[in-house]
Amino acid sequence: MNVLLKGTVDGIATLLVLPAFLLYSVGKRVFRPEKAFPGWSQLLGLIPGMSGVYLRRAFYRLVFARCQAGSWISFGTVFSHPKCSVGRNVYVGVYCCLGEVSLEDDVLIGSHVSIMNGGSQHGIERLDIPIREQPGSWPHITIGRDSWIGDRAVVLADVGKHCVIGAGSLVNKAIPDYAIAVGVPARVLRFRTGPGAVVQSGAPPVLGSCQATTTGPH
Ligand SMILES: CC(C)(COP(=O)(O)OP(=O)(O)OC[C@H]1O[C@@H](n2cnc3c(N)ncnc32)[C@H](O)[C@@H]1OP(=O)(O)O)[C@@H](O)C(=O)NCCC(=O)NCCS
Repeated sequence: MNVLLKGTVDGIATLLVLPAFLLYSVGKRVFRPEKAFPGWSQLLGLIPGMSGVYLRRAFYRLVFARCQAGSWISFGTVFSHPKCSVGRNVYVGVYCCLGEVSLEDDVLIGSHVSIMNGGSQHGIERLDIPIREQPGSWPHITIGRDSWIGDRAVVLADVGKHCVIGAGSLVNKAIPDYAIAVGVPARVLRFRTGPGAVVQSGAPPVLGSCQATTTGPH
């Protein structure tokens, strides 16, 4: 599809989702945004095919801080929080559950992936009150530019730029830039060092700022 046609379809999709956006805007004033938002994400997630992709992108463009051109959110994928951002040319496969996340440009997410805001949404120390009533923490999660998250991965922590997370892996600690990490829990298998890697002052490993928080390659 050429740029003009895509722009026109994007414009039509924006018009079509305006009623949903207006209802959401009313809903978030009556309830909290995080209460009003998920139902709309679930409803729009049920629209199949290209029309669903265009309508979801149009809605998220109105709601999220950023939802860029070329992004593709597939059927069945649900965001549970409106404080998200989706970069340029991001692809998200079918049936993903995404919390409060930032997906940077060119991120590729397989199908059935869960990205949660850490692993401590509830306290578990006390036994005299239910877990659901014990406060926890909800760190915002960022998936760095050009990272690829394999099918059925569960991500509870930040993933750096240019990373690969193996299918079925559990990420429970921050993954450094350029890492290929696999397994449950995910361990760094090796670092990507191909053309385009940022080599720092003669030292080969292309490591990011999270390096100190991981065990490194083994
Ligand atoms: C991680 C991946 C990219 C392979 O990376 P690789 O560097 O080529 O790794 P290799 O295949 O050489 O495997 C290296 C080791 O990691 C293990 N491994 C590879 N993928 C793994 C995974 N997903 N989970 C656990 N271990 C894995 C291999 O068994 C091998 O272990 P060994 O050395 O003990 O035999 C690939 O396995 C993968 O998971 N791709 C995602 C596919 C996907 O989900 N696509 C969805 C469509 S977008």
